[in-house]
Amino acid sequence: MMQMTHSPFFFTLFILLFHFPHSSSFSMSVENHEENAIVSPKGIFTAGFYPVGENAYSFAIWFTQKHKNLNNNATIVWMANRDQPVNGKHSTLSLLKTGNLVLTDAGQFSVWSTNTNSSKQLELFLYDTGNLVLREHNINGFILWQSFDFPTDTLLPDQTFTGYMNLVSSKSGTNYSSGSYKLFFDNNNLLRLLYDSPRGSSVYWPDTLLLGWQASRSTYNSSRVATLNRLGNFSSSDYFNFKTTDYGTVLQRRVTLDFDGNVRVYSRKHGQEQWSVSGQFLQQPCQIDGICGPNSTCSYDPRTGRKCSCLPGYNIVNNHDWSQGCKPSFQFSCNKKTKYCFEFLPHVEFYNYDYGFHKNFTYKQCKHLCLRLCECIAFQFRYVKSKGLYNCYPKMQLLNGHRSTKFRGSLYLRLPKHNIVFPGEYDNLVCSRNKGVKHLGRSYISEKENGSLKFMLWFASGLGGIEILCFFLVGCILFKNSKKSRVDNHGYVLAAATGFRKFSYSELKQATKGFSQEIGKGAGGTVYKGVLSDSRVAAIKRLHEANSGESESEFLAEVSIIGRLNHMNVIGMWGYCAEGKHRLLVYEYMEKGSLAHNLSSNELDWDKRYDIAMGTAKGLAYLHEEYLEWILHCDIKPQNILIDSDYQPKVADFGLSKLLNRDDLDNSNFSRIRGTRGYMAPEWVFNLQITSKVDVYSYGVVVLEMITGKSPTTGIQIKEELINERLVTWVREKRRNGLDVGCWVEQIVDPKLGSNYDVKKMETLANVALDCVGEDKDVRPTMSQVVERLLSHEHNY
Ligand SMILES: *[C@@H]1O[C@H](CO)[C@@H](O)[C@H](O)[C@H]1NC(C)=O
Ligand SMILES: *[C@@H]1O[C@H](CO)[C@@H](O)[C@H](O)[C@H]1NC(C)=O
Ligand SMILES: *[C@@H]1O[C@H](CO)[C@@H](O)[C@H](O)[C@H]1NC(C)=O
Ligand SMILES: *[C@@H]1O[C@H](CO)[C@@H](O)[C@H](O)[C@H]1NC(C)=O
Ligand SMILES: *[C@@H]1O[C@H](CO)[C@@H](O)[C@H](O)[C@H]1NC(C)=O
Ligand SMILES: *[C@@H]1O[C@H](CO)[C@@H](O)[C@H](O)[C@H]1NC(C)=O
Ligand SMILES: *[C@@H]1O[C@H](CO)[C@@H](O)[C@H](O)[C@H]1NC(C)=O
Repeated sequence: MMQMTHSPFFFTLFILLFHFPHSSSFSMSVENHEENAIVSPKGIFTAGFYPVGENAYSFAIWFTQKHKNLNNNATIVWMANRDQPVNGKHSTLSLLKTGNLVLTDAGQFSVWSTNTNSSKQLELFLYDTGNLVLREHNINGFILWQSFDFPTDTLLPDQTFTGYMNLVSSKSGTNYSSGSYKLFFDNNNLLRLLYDSPRGSSVYWPDTLLLGWQASRSTYNSSRVATLNRLGNFSSSDYFNFKTTDYGTVLQRRVTLDFDGNVRVYSRKHGQEQWSVSGQFLQQPCQIDGICGPNSTCSYDPRTGRKCSCLPGYNIVNNHDWSQGCKPSFQFSCNKKTKYCFEFLPHVEFYNYDYGFHKNFTYKQCKHLCLRLCECIAFQFRYVKSKGLYNCYPKMQLLNGHRSTKFRGSLYLRLPKHNIVFPGEYDNLVCSRNKGVKHLGRSYISEKENGSLKFMLWFASGLGGIEILCFFLVGCILFKNSKKSRVDNHGYVLAAATGFRKFSYSELKQATKGFSQEIGKGAGGTVYKGVLSDSRVAAIKRLHEANSGESESEFLAEVSIIGRLNHMNVIGMWGYCAEGKHRLLVYEYMEKGSLAHNLSSNELDWDKRYDIAMGTAKGLAYLHEEYLEWILHCDIKPQNILIDSDYQPKVADFGLSKLLNRDDLDNSNFSRIRGTRGYMAPEWVFNLQITSKVDVYSYGVVVLEMITGKSPTTGIQIKEELINERLVTWVREKRRNGLDVGCWVEQIVDPKLGSNYDVKKMETLANVALDCVGEDKDVRPTMSQVVERLLSHEHNY
């Protein structure tokens, strides 16, 4: 199709001039696509209509094919309308008199345009770099539009990838429409890869379990640019740099986000046919999410490459597309008659979609739990070396499965007893041979621990955690990470009990009956009660109209972090919705409402208050320390602690500061400072470093409020008389004055409790709370120390 490269006619056409700006417009039609193409001066690139299917064309740029007879498929580097190919008849690319370049389908409607306007004489020019520009035809050559600003799945040498761009993979090797993988800069200035499909969404590169600096990345340079230079040096402003294996020579090169989710650098000598891979982002292809589909595992061998396999008892859905996964060859039924057994699959791990997480379970307990749950199709059983016990994770779905001898976990797959032998991949696996725990102990304990790493962690915790500055407005979701927790919990804490998913706006509108039942207003949004299609009751938070500046993938990258939290004292997020301007979050619904509500309606006796103080401390300790990424709440107050039907507290409304739009925060009542008056640590006011100790402070205030029944925001009201004094100072004074007398606690306790409380426990709680509200952040305990002190009291008592 490119034979006209050598025709003299063509050399004059590689610059298309439009000499009639006011009388007429230029047009290039699809019917003559073989003749009507734009070729760069040295003939390296061609732009024109490219056939992408039967009678379907896209306007594209590709490497000019020299050996047309060998292989008719060109290497496409850019496409205008990948998702909306035009008809092979009467479709045109036209430069309108207004200066807009428009692609029209079958002479009717426009499917793509540059959205430019100009009254000057314009020209469309294709450079030998592969950049197609629409520029003024004069000395200045002002550029109105260029294809380099709108990459599809490929970057060319010296093309700058910025924070405003995405690379989106193709569907497949032959289907160029948008696929499920996306490369972008996130709000922390990190270059990331995201998998986003109806089957699930997740960020898979760099490993989300690693903190930026652990992946040798920097979040500090906000310029958000990445390029590959001609010699083969790929460099990004987050310090992700590498050189291609053929670095140093000028070759034809391209960086492509391939349809399999990996980003590869390809190179070839001019005139050569074949491309070779000279660099790639991911060395371990099984790290790419969604590759093997549900109910299958991914394994990788450097010699033979990546391989997907169905679990025993399961068959592939579509032989040509592993991403559709495998389906069971039997039927699950919940009647008591069907007998099940469990296949032991060593070194197999599935991430997420746990049906809760059960600490310190025996194999037998875990098995019986799974048998009792109708939805449980397998369980992961895992030895936690540091704690010397086994954890149990019943599974409702089997997604993102990996098989590697490096994994220490094992999967027990639930199968009907009559399905005994399964040929293939998972050979020699027969249900009845399952010996359970005995198998496990051996393989686990042999694992070595990394000495220096352990030291570093020990050192870090000695410093009270690694403290990272949290900037105002930039948000209070911080990432700490430790290889330790990575090793112990690989993948598991990522689980939300019921999976985390994307909802459509119409689905949520229906669930909330058109957003009719408002149950509260929180930072940045209004909360509605709703019933999901699976009849779960949810609290649906609708964020104020988000800045259109934040793309869906950035939003997702943030919410998916929250969606992975899984702790009984932390509110569970079930999913999100990001459609157009709409941004919604779907949480589990707490029927008892907030702690604030329960305190004011006098629902809480002493035992409940103590349990709530304990549970909240556990939830915060989890957020600060146990969870793989370090999350500061920054706005602990009774309104943000929700109570479930058993009077267990759940910490809510955190991590959202990053989801809110800047103007919104600026105008809101807490102005530039994140937090709520009365509960805010002095660091905010004095503009000092913000660490997890701000939450410890707020927690202390909340506990004092629970003990005294007095709100820190209204001043201290005693016997109808308002004493204009801070709650914290008031309690501190009482303790100082009452220590010798030994009865200070009685003086501060909420009169509504009467004498129905345990004095010793109350004193411990009050002392802990006072330590938490220390003016100096360094004297405040950490949240896990708070938990320990409250627990140790229980034991000694
Ligand atoms: C490419 O995939 C899309 C989405 O699955 C589909 O609608 C389209 O028909 C496919 N195109 C071709 C040429 O197969
Ligand atoms: C060229 O594309 C066709 C489909 O358009 C595909 O079947 C064929 O395998 C491709 N050839 C090569 C060498 O990639
Ligand atoms: C064309 O551009 C000018 C200035 O660049 C702008 O004022 C005008 O509104 C634009 N017209 C259209 C139709 O977009
Ligand atoms: C590659 O680029 C990075 C960033 O620009 C630079 O620091 C590094 O020195 C370059 N490497 C080589 C070998 O040119
Ligand atoms: C940020 O990155 C860009 C591109 O890599 C570089 O030119 C710039 O100097 C960096 N800025 C800082 C402050 O390091
Ligand atoms: C995976 O297996 C589960 C349970 O066996 C089944 O419900 C589900 O439909 C399967 N997934 C697919 C894609 O077939
Ligand atoms: C685990 O459970 C066993 C028996 O229920 C108990 O004896 C043991 O103390 C528990 N271990 C931990 C660390 O909780």
